[in-house]
Amino acid sequence: MSTLKKVYIETVGCQMNVLDSELVIGALRKQGYDLTHTASEADVILFNTCSVREHAEEKTYSSLGRVIPYKKWNPDLVVGVIGCMAQKDQHQIRDRAPYVDMIVGTGQLAKIPALVEEVKRTRQPQFALSLGRTDGGRDVVESSFESYDPTRDPTMRATPFQAFVRIQIGCDKFCTYCVVPSTRGPEQSRHPDHLLAEVRLLVDQGCKEVTLIGQTVNSYFYDHGDGRRTRLSDLLSKMHDTVGLERIKFVTNYPRDMTDDLLDAVRELPKVCKYLHVPVQSGCDDVLKRMKRNYTADYYRDMLARCREKVPGVAVSSDFIVGFCGETEESFQKTMDLVHESKFKNSFIFKYSERPGTKAMDRYPDDIPEDVKKRRNNDLLFVQNANCLVDHRAKIGQTLEVLVEGLSRHGERSDGLIKQYTGRAMTDHIVVFEGTDRLIGQTLQVHIDNASGFTLFGTVLTTETSGSTGQPIPMPRAATSRIGLKLV
Ligand code: SAH
Ligand code: SF4
Ligand code: F3S
Repeated sequence: MSTLKKVYIETVGCQMNVLDSELVIGALRKQGYDLTHTASEADVILFNTCSVREHAEEKTYSSLGRVIPYKKWNPDLVVGVIGCMAQKDQHQIRDRAPYVDMIVGTGQLAKIPALVEEVKRTRQPQFALSLGRTDGGRDVVESSFESYDPTRDPTMRATPFQAFVRIQIGCDKFCTYCVVPSTRGPEQSRHPDHLLAEVRLLVDQGCKEVTLIGQTVNSYFYDHGDGRRTRLSDLLSKMHDTVGLERIKFVTNYPRDMTDDLLDAVRELPKVCKYLHVPVQSGCDDVLKRMKRNYTADYYRDMLARCREKVPGVAVSSDFIVGFCGETEESFQKTMDLVHESKFKNSFIFKYSERPGTKAMDRYPDDIPEDVKKRRNNDLLFVQNANCLVDHRAKIGQTLEVLVEGLSRHGERSDGLIKQYTGRAMTDHIVVFEGTDRLIGQTLQVHIDNASGFTLFGTVLTTETSGSTGQPIPMPRAATSRIGLKLV
């Protein structure tokens, strides 16, 4: 039997949290912990949390309720709440779950191994939080949100050949509905040299695709202090020179910062995916104004046209919030029209969730009833789904370059003979096809034969790949199962 101590982690939220969980587990493994997927056998249980909608927080509180019996069985168990909710709500967490041993905010995660030891030694609760945005000068607040990204553990990644790279911390946009500027702190762009070194290391470890992440990733801007400045377009062209790297993606974009130099870089650099996630949130100017998004629906339309003109064939996706304060049927209809005409590759649609501490909660009543929010959500989804089907059908007959990610969800036939695999095209479209395990991690030419609203179905034409070693790649398990991600 293994004598290693065991850590269990549940992760909700966005890619930032997926990466944070990878880093936290990586750091704990260096301290002699092994990851377990069974909470009841763990010595340390961590909840990496999200506050973006109330539902996400309630999920964490109900998970916290489930560990009470474990605490009774094992008095040495350490339970930690980490991430965005920890940063925002330490008092509420202590009230609702007084047995929590450790509360660690988003910018303090590097301290977790030491804090776990401290809890074990003293059995006293431990807290490490970054400063609030008004708790000091900008420099002091910024430095309380540390980056500990260089401590990577390749075995914790989604797949051995894909990795997230955080190029930007925090957010300064202050959309009125959003908690992220307070949970993740001030916007800071990481030094390009550090990022290039991180990507070099990842590629040396077998990584083929990196996804650069930031809340408004296209606002990336590093001022070197000697007159030199690095924009996202500059970073992309430098990163593009990384030998062995095959693909670069970046998410999430802010509509106002979609500059021509960036679009030129996306067009010109073959390794950069022809895919842009640019959330619009609403198609109504009044709503956009109350959200403080700093653009109008027509500004967004022009931006979208510019993306498509500068990067032929680019796929664009978006996020929407329905039922925001004061959203009339007329305002909602404008959003429906925008979705109908914009032909997004896909859209993530959320019902507005009022968040304590946000400007929207202070200023505007949450006046749209839940059943209306639900109906608008369904109506918008219906239009988007129809667009998806048209977009997907147009791909039938094309040959796409696909990076194979793993077995598809229902991939294994009961007799085990034919297996279906899933991968992504350069436009981020999901492609499903028959194959064998040795295709995982390879870049293939796939002919598209059929399509549903969610997926393209194809046939592998060639298994010739750039940079392939021809060695079978060990079967990866999905990141979501590795770090217990629950999307909310
Ligand atoms: N930084 C990214 C994503 C932020 S969170 C961006 O600006 O696009 C991801 C999505 O959650 C947002 O795009 C928005 O659509 C949604 N969201 C944020 N706050 C929300 C709230 N209070 N209620 C419902 N959805 C919300
Ligand atoms: Fe939130 Fe707006 Fe920042 Fe996105 S840009 S994280 S929605 S405040
Ligand atoms: Fe992400 Fe949720 Fe925090 S969306 S940044 S984990 S509040």
